[in-house]
Amino acid sequence: MTLTDALHWRYAAKRMNGEQVPQETLERIMDAARLAPSSFGLHPWSLVHVRSQDLRARLHDDAAPQPQVIEGSDLLVFAVHDRDFKAQVDDYITHMAHTREVDESSLDGFRNMIKGVMDQKGSHEACLEWAARQAYIGMGVALSAAALEEVDASPMEGFYPAKLDEALGLQEKGLKSVVIMALGYRDTERDQGAGRAKVRRDRDDFVYTIE
Ligand SMILES: Cc1cc2nc3c(=O)[nH]c(=O)nc-3n(C[C@H](O)[C@H](O)[C@H](O)COP(=O)(O)O)c2cc1C
Repeated sequence: MTLTDALHWRYAAKRMNGEQVPQETLERIMDAARLAPSSFGLHPWSLVHVRSQDLRARLHDDAAPQPQVIEGSDLLVFAVHDRDFKAQVDDYITHMAHTREVDESSLDGFRNMIKGVMDQKGSHEACLEWAARQAYIGMGVALSAAALEEVDASPMEGFYPAKLDEALGLQEKGLKSVVIMALGYRDTERDQGAGRAKVRRDRDDFVYTIE
């Protein structure tokens, strides 16, 4: 199956049948998210994986009242790192120097360039907003990877971030949720969205070619 075939196959399933996604499949989907690109490669977000049915039921009651949350197999929370961004840059540079076996000082120009861009953003909130955009790229990659695995992925912004963060103790981990995604298998009998034609912009209303 090509990626395009997979994207035609997928839709945001709202009703799921409770079947479990195998662990190795789930790992491939989460690894695809990990491999998503980010601005400067800073990767200012992480995944929080919630499998427990009990915990998902609690989240459904208080923070994310959509059926996919409990009828799916797993819930992924895309969460930005809510801590000093310049400290995140320093950690990243240390990690890069270690991974590529180079002297950290050789990366000082790069370090200062990223910090300069953060200065231009002007506030921690603006950096959080920018970090959220990186998390959304990961969400798109995870959603595509799931489709290639024929696993349904239902992205959701319809939840209460503060309640979800509290229920999962994300603040203590220095994390802040931005978008969530249920993984599982569609229940075609109960899901009104199953089999519906996709509504997207026509090609000519979408690609503006400038010669
Ligand atoms: C960022 C984002 C947030 C979304 N939030 C919700 C949501 O909270 N609840 C829901 O039922 N669908 C949600 N959706 C699913 C969209 O409604 C769906 O992707 C869109 O209608 C296109 O249809 P399709 O994905 O089924 O092809 C969301 C999708 C995205 C990309």
